[in-house]
Amino acid sequence: MRNRVAVMHGVNLDALDRRPAQHYGELTFSQLERRIDKYAHELGLDARFFQTNHEGEMVEEIHKASDYADGLLINPGAWTHYSWALRDAVEVSGLPMVEVHLSDVTQREEFRRLSVFEGVSIARFYGKGVEGYRDALVALKEAF
Ligand code: DQA
Repeated sequence: MRNRVAVMHGVNLDALDRRPAQHYGELTFSQLERRIDKYAHELGLDARFFQTNHEGEMVEEIHKASDYADGLLINPGAWTHYSWALRDAVEVSGLPMVEVHLSDVTQREEFRRLSVFEGVSIARFYGKGVEGYRDALVALKEAF
């Protein structure tokens, strides 16, 4: 049975409680991870968590993910908008990937409109806060 999800957060998301609440809400990063874990359990999925502020570490973790996961749920933070290296890493992984953002990246600064993951992600959720992660888990479950 395929039910293992690697939940990965990129740059600056560990400092969630120090970022603008109007975009990111009030949860701390560990509260966010706990909520995602709860959603995963409810959906019969097994979530494993990873966060880094180092792009190369993120690349290496994505490379390894196919050893322990059936799909990727990634909020890449600002890397979303310029890290072609992460896009290629997702392709290398061969895993279905869903992109999530807490904020509505389509309604903020112009630079947030581009996602390098377009074309390698199977779905993208944004602007729904933590609820977007539940949608992302459902999308992955349907892809399994
Ligand atoms: C984000 C949106 C990005 O533009 C931003 O750089 C982040 C967080 C989000 O979850 O809304 O760090 O990915």
